[in-house]
Amino acid sequence: MRFLSFIAVLVGLTGCIFADPIPIHSHPHSRIISPTTSVELPSISRNSLASVHSPASARAVSNPEPYWLEHIEHQGISAFHPAPDTYQVFRNVKSFGAQGMSDGVTDDTAAINAAISSGGRCAPGSCRSSTTTPAIVYFPAGTYLISSSLIDYYYTQIIGNPNSLPILKAAPHFGGFALIDGDHGLGFGPTDIFYRQIRNLILDMTEIPAGTLVNGVHWPTAQATSIQNCVFRMSDAAGTQHQGLFIESGFCHRSPLTISATIVGSGGFMNDLVFYGGMNGILFGNQQYTVRNLTFYNAVTAIQQGWNWGWTYIGLTVVNCTIGLNMATGGSSGQIVGSVTILDSNFANTEVAILTARTPSSSPATGGSLILDNVSLTNVAIAVQGPCGIILAGGTTKITGWGQGNQYTPNGPTVFRGPTTPFARPASLTIDGEFYARSKPQYNTLPLSSFVSTRAAGAKGDGKTDDTAILNNVLQTAAANGQVVFFDAGTYKVTSTVNIPLGSRIVGESYSVIMGSGAFFSSMNAPEAVVSVGTTGQTGIVEWSDMIVSTQGATAGAILIEWNLASSPSSPSGMWDVHTRIGGFAGSNLQVANCPTTPGAANIVKDDCMAAFMSMHFSNSAAGVYLENTWFWTSDHDLDDPNLTQVTVYAGRGLYSTSSTGTIWLVGTSVEHHALYQYQFTNTKDVFAGHIQTETAYYQPNPPAMVPFPAVSAWNDFDFVAGCTGVAGNCAMGWGLRIVGSTSILIYGAGLYSFFDNYRTFCSQVGNGEVCQARIFSIEQSSNINIYNLNTVGATCMLSRDGLSMVHYAPNVNVFPDTVALFKSD
Ligand SMILES: *[C@@H]1O[C@H](CO)[C@@H](O)[C@H](O)[C@H]1NC(C)=O
Ligand SMILES: *[C@@H]1O[C@H](CO)[C@@H](O)[C@H](O)[C@H]1NC(C)=O
Ligand SMILES: *[C@@H]1O[C@H](CO)[C@@H](O)[C@H](O)[C@H]1NC(C)=O
Ligand SMILES: *[C@@H]1O[C@H](CO)[C@@H](O)[C@H](O)[C@H]1NC(C)=O
Repeated sequence: MRFLSFIAVLVGLTGCIFADPIPIHSHPHSRIISPTTSVELPSISRNSLASVHSPASARAVSNPEPYWLEHIEHQGISAFHPAPDTYQVFRNVKSFGAQGMSDGVTDDTAAINAAISSGGRCAPGSCRSSTTTPAIVYFPAGTYLISSSLIDYYYTQIIGNPNSLPILKAAPHFGGFALIDGDHGLGFGPTDIFYRQIRNLILDMTEIPAGTLVNGVHWPTAQATSIQNCVFRMSDAAGTQHQGLFIESGFCHRSPLTISATIVGSGGFMNDLVFYGGMNGILFGNQQYTVRNLTFYNAVTAIQQGWNWGWTYIGLTVVNCTIGLNMATGGSSGQIVGSVTILDSNFANTEVAILTARTPSSSPATGGSLILDNVSLTNVAIAVQGPCGIILAGGTTKITGWGQGNQYTPNGPTVFRGPTTPFARPASLTIDGEFYARSKPQYNTLPLSSFVSTRAAGAKGDGKTDDTAILNNVLQTAAANGQVVFFDAGTYKVTSTVNIPLGSRIVGESYSVIMGSGAFFSSMNAPEAVVSVGTTGQTGIVEWSDMIVSTQGATAGAILIEWNLASSPSSPSGMWDVHTRIGGFAGSNLQVANCPTTPGAANIVKDDCMAAFMSMHFSNSAAGVYLENTWFWTSDHDLDDPNLTQVTVYAGRGLYSTSSTGTIWLVGTSVEHHALYQYQFTNTKDVFAGHIQTETAYYQPNPPAMVPFPAVSAWNDFDFVAGCTGVAGNCAMGWGLRIVGSTSILIYGAGLYSFFDNYRTFCSQVGNGEVCQARIFSIEQSSNINIYNLNTVGATCMLSRDGLSMVHYAPNVNVFPDTVALFKSD
């Protein structure tokens, strides 16, 4: 998504004003939020997370466990870099002179920054985006003293040794904005920042004076990004100004009364983070995010929700803080936090778990929509506090279900505030009552001998050579031998299907690409998989992470990922940080020169820009699959064009599931700009999804959804020709989400967005009646469909059921989207 340019158009019309980022100290916190009861804070029992990540364990650098990624031969390339043979992808900071000495004297700042920047990479301020200069910046175990910010560049994975987390230790005189500045000087547009990670680090800010305003990581960001397995150590002294993670609080929304707009972002995902101390553990401002397994100790405010449209917190733990989540930003007359969903979470020894500005008369109408589902309190003074007092009492108790906002069950709206009946959780999706979750495997306990490299096996990854046969060989052999396949960085061109056998474990390097090309993928009447996982009837497990599947040129018959394998609910398969990318990158032959936009000409389709039949298919036999942080993107702009110029690339369908057994988890997934739909669930069941995010293709309705991929009944496509009869407005627009003949679908947060009408944004601007598309979400012949915090933009009808409008946007207006806090079918 590339929202910024469009926001700029909005500004004049909404009364939003672009201004400097809101300084973080403009949110003063006192330790006491006038609680009516005072609480004794008994000594907290820190769970195992604390000891796992204690500095003591990380200090054992003399004898760290070897980590395969550090020692494997580094032969990754950037296929479409002008000098692929000399450009270095993998960079060990020690090779650039960093010492990691722990002597408190040796300053590693310059060496680490050299490791990040060398090789003419895409720098903030001088480059807006690039896919040709990827890097892994690797930290062996050690304590790295830094005195100013590490400046992150585009397309970078910053990775520490997971067996002995390296420490980034800020010097007492630290003089930067953040230990890791993910967008220095806001040189990258936050909605344009894709493909980057930080994992396995301790960020130690404790020697910086408590009164110094400083951030651990500055992370304005968009899709296909993650922070995983990091620890943030901050001062917990009175008056601390430390902040672990800072994502801009700038914002734009409908009300002309409220505060200025600055920076938006469109994330995103993060998981397995621990925060100690701080004024704010995190200040979070972004359109939407899914965060999982975050733990906070001893912060003034664990999470300051600066602004949002929709946010899903899974497995939050807040211990000994003044406030858990402050979503009151903007105040009752101008709330800027749209909606929050919290599930399977714990608050302990905390004064106020949640602070909200929502009241019966607050604005916007659905601002501050909130859902709590399975949230435990231990010695919490107030569960939910509003501007006029306690809304929900605390104590030591479990909140099985509670919420505020608008509900449709299935008719509405009813404005509600109070207990709710939580969605019935299918046993197959849970473990001990909590939803199954699994972090991306790093294989950190496996020896080097367990890994086999694709380039060592003879694949080129140069974007030119046909690597199909070698990849199929190495995948077969590795699965048979129980080895992990390491796709060295590169673009692996394939001319027929790559088959991932059951038992495979696959990991990429800085998003290694498998790119389908040629006649095999060219017919939309005979679609073929670029990558196929297992075969129909097979049972077993596959694990796959850190890669991209793409196409090159005219490939209207490509199904980028087809999943056939069935796994048991107790031992699912998984896909982490595996994305599809259709067009808009160097080497795709689907760039500005090939696929320019044509808003001024009616229904012109360049056949050479039809680049996919479907992003991903869970076939009838697929079952037991866990997806975390996946982004299926048909490009709306050219990532390698200096101006990020828009492109028109056509892909038929997004994520399609016809899995008869279901048992599919979609944790932090998004699907954008496919023609007929983004998500479609047909004849399936038992799906956990949250937060999901979609965007309708920017060119539609020129041409409309059924052009150039006409509906095919064998693929259960919606017939926009017959189905739009009698529907006013732009009806033939791709569905954000379509559910047909299905049951037991549980959606914990959704953002279905339609910003454009033939590249114009008038239709989604404030006060224009949400006329980009008539309908965006369809439920047909289905039952037991459950949704928390459905957010839509630009759609007149937010939800239709069997062809009839169920939810009109008008009563549900929120900060920018329209929001229904709770929907239950029957
Ligand atoms: C949560 O994160 C910790 C590390 O911070 C990790 O040890 C633990 O396994 C994670 N739990 C889940 C359910 O992912
Ligand atoms: C609770 O947090 C405060 C800082 O806000 C800290 O001083 C105190 O030691 C913490 N209590 C426990 C029991 O850890
Ligand atoms: C809620 O979470 C707890 C753990 O915090 C778990 O034991 C319980 O089974 C979960 N599920 C429900 C539906 O309460
Ligand atoms: C980018 O836009 C600027 C300003 O419109 C223009 O001068 C420049 O030629 C463009 N660059 C490219 C590569 O299109």
